[in-house]
Amino acid sequence: MIVCSCNVLSDNAVRACLHRGPDCPRTPAQVHACLGCSPKCGRCARTIRSIMENALQGALEEAGHACSATCASSCSLVKVQPAEEGIAA
Ligand code: FES
Repeated sequence: MIVCSCNVLSDNAVRACLHRGPDCPRTPAQVHACLGCSPKCGRCARTIRSIMENALQGALEEAGHACSATCASSCSLVKVQPAEEGIAA
């Protein structure tokens, strides 16, 4: 399914660029950069963020990990950044 009509990005392409580690995109704008494009209208940001959160939840469950407030500050699997940055209006 196409989730970004400006750049013709599919949900599978978004999921494919999400991976564990410090290079994992943390914002929808970083997902666009990972896929070699940049956000334009920004309408897809909420959908991409939802895909990112679902993928993160799946990774946490796969790892048998549940972040607590005490470990969240140092965990590489901590939630994606709350505010969207770099989306052109
Ligand atoms: S729909 Fe993704 S930037 Fe416009």
